[in-house]
Amino acid sequence: MDAHEDTTGQPADRANEEAARAVLIDCDPGHDDAIALLLAHGDPRIEVLGISTVAGNQTLEKITRNAQSIAAVGGFSGVPIAAGASRGLVAEPIVAGEIHGESGLDGPHLPEAQAPLDPRHGVNLIIDTVMNRPAGSVTLVATGPLTNLALAVRLEPRIVERVREVVIMGGAIATGNLTPVAEFNIAVDPEAAHIVFHAAWDLTMVGLDVTHQALATTEVRRQLAEVGTHPAKFVGALLDFYGSAYTAEQGFEFPPVHDPVAVAAVIDPSVLTLRKAHLDVSLAEGPTRGMTVVDLRGPAPDGCRTSVAVGIDVERFWALVVAALQRIGDPE
Ligand code: BDR
Ligand code: CA
Repeated sequence: MDAHEDTTGQPADRANEEAARAVLIDCDPGHDDAIALLLAHGDPRIEVLGISTVAGNQTLEKITRNAQSIAAVGGFSGVPIAAGASRGLVAEPIVAGEIHGESGLDGPHLPEAQAPLDPRHGVNLIIDTVMNRPAGSVTLVATGPLTNLALAVRLEPRIVERVREVVIMGGAIATGNLTPVAEFNIAVDPEAAHIVFHAAWDLTMVGLDVTHQALATTEVRRQLAEVGTHPAKFVGALLDFYGSAYTAEQGFEFPPVHDPVAVAAVIDPSVLTLRKAHLDVSLAEGPTRGMTVVDLRGPAPDGCRTSVAVGIDVERFWALVVAALQRIGDPE
């Protein structure tokens, strides 16, 4: 039997909506990635199968170490973490040190890893996770540049029909952040985004249009502080640094906490308002490079498998984050 075939070959039984959604998270932690990982770990509606890392907010070495530190803080050191791509497919590397600091996760004390890295390349972790689980059962959540997902599609194209869906934090219908029109995750590797957008799987784009509303306001900070645990204090220290950086660099009064919104979309789809729309990305050299092009002219064509977030219930979103931290408690 093919090493990647499951024993039944049957789609997973989706009738039991109580079952936790099986998720692999591809990320570049990063302050908001860290909160996304804690949200996924702390919500019982998600089972985190694995974490692959990709260069983005900082170098691969730094953000992979950060993923291990977050696992130690959250008490999920049993989840495989594998280092993936160290740069984009074509573009020269860009990091976001001005927002995430020298370490990629400046602010709190970062504990040592409690478990070794998974020896596989992150791309192989993605492929193995999708191919070894029942068809239609694994959701890929990407909160960094899309390099690993694109490489996985090229290396094992059968993952495309096998995943349940792909949810990405990235892109924007309107204004960008790295450039006037391009969002960071897409701009770091536009060619990878092109591959991922054009693969024949169900994909949801959670872009800046909604994540710029997920602000860590004073009231949100109060609710997080009230949790009172070590992981909640760790999140508080993350948001102190991240908030100051966002104020200094982008003039935000309160920082937008992007990546956990993509996780929330999997936990509770009613957090977001989605619209089916054809997605594309500009690969042109010049001012539009990395811009996502979302076709919202009228209804999407039949067979369109891509959706974009156009609205967010901010209170419901933050309630999920607070509840997840409460559930995590103080791990041993
Ligand atoms: C995205 O870029 C990164 O800096 C954040 O972690 C988030 O994934 C927002 O544009
Ligand atoms: Ca990220």
